[in-house]
Amino acid sequence: MGVAHFDGALAVVTGAGSGFGRATALALAGRGASVIAADIDLPSAERTLALAKKAGATGAAYRVDVADGAAMEEFAGWVREEHRTPDIVVNNAGIAVAGPFLATGTADWERIIGVNLWGVIHGSRLFGRQMAERVAALPAKPDKPNFGGHIVNVASAAAFAPQRSLPAYSTTKAAVLMLSQCLRAELAGSRIGVTAVCPGFAKTGLARSSIHVGVSAEAQESLRRRYDKAFQWRGYPPEKVAERIVDAIVKNRAVVPVNFEGHLLHALSRVSPASLRLIARIPSPQR
Ligand SMILES: NC(=O)c1ccc[n+]([C@@H]2O[C@H](COP(=O)([O-])OP(=O)(O)OC[C@H]3O[C@@H](n4cnc5c(N)ncnc54)[C@H](O)[C@@H]3O)[C@@H](O)[C@H]2O)c1
Repeated sequence: MGVAHFDGALAVVTGAGSGFGRATALALAGRGASVIAADIDLPSAERTLALAKKAGATGAAYRVDVADGAAMEEFAGWVREEHRTPDIVVNNAGIAVAGPFLATGTADWERIIGVNLWGVIHGSRLFGRQMAERVAALPAKPDKPNFGGHIVNVASAAAFAPQRSLPAYSTTKAAVLMLSQCLRAELAGSRIGVTAVCPGFAKTGLARSSIHVGVSAEAQESLRRRYDKAFQWRGYPPEKVAERIVDAIVKNRAVVPVNFEGHLLHALSRVSPASLRLIARIPSPQR
């Protein structure tokens, strides 16, 4: 794909300091977009921005906790004041909580719902509103309607498939998938696209920071190492996910499963949901 697609566009990417977020920020920057790289870990976002600048892009790095509504409001206001209404927003920041439902405490739920669901709600609501206001202020062009923008929400293949070992994570991702489809219907009239991206396992830092409930701190470290090894062994590069995100924006896709697991679980959820409910019973081998 050439570099011309996003010339002059402004893209906001959350969780831009690592994994899919960094790869997506760089893919968009490589195609001419300016990038606002946002992350709770500012140095990592700054590193992404430095890499984007090396590719010739402009932009900024910003520290924000996507779970914090007031901070996200401030962030969205800052983007509009200091830059402008973005054309592309990728709500990507996320964390993993693994382990049985009965061992998952209220604080674990609040943490993962805060980042994985509230983060997407804040980003979609605040920037979606900015995009809709911008479209409403433009002169109507019935023959060639104005492009209003595009919101990408990073869900997961876990959104398609129940799993006894991943109830909190899968629940937040299923909610992101549904939210994205509702929002897509609402914003279609404003020519704002909304995509839910649903990848299977990929080689990122997610497993290294995952929270394993119901085990000791020592066991958690060992589980993190084992899952990280599996993610790295699976070897699916975040750059490929970023390419699918770029393609989804260009083609305005609604739901985008990515990689073998992503496509398999998506297909099974449509043709044989009962088989997924059976597979969901298989206990996690490492616990
Ligand atoms: N890696 C996979 O196999 C996989 C598969 C499907 C979906 N996903 C989803 O992809 C998204 C990106 O994850 P990744 O795999 O690149 O992981 P990652 O850990 O490499 O990157 C996540 C980034 O989000 C940031 N972040 C975490 N909490 C934040 C917060 N509260 N506010 C702002 N930033 C925050 C982290 O600092 C990090 O830079 C997540 O939503 C994840 O659930 C990952």
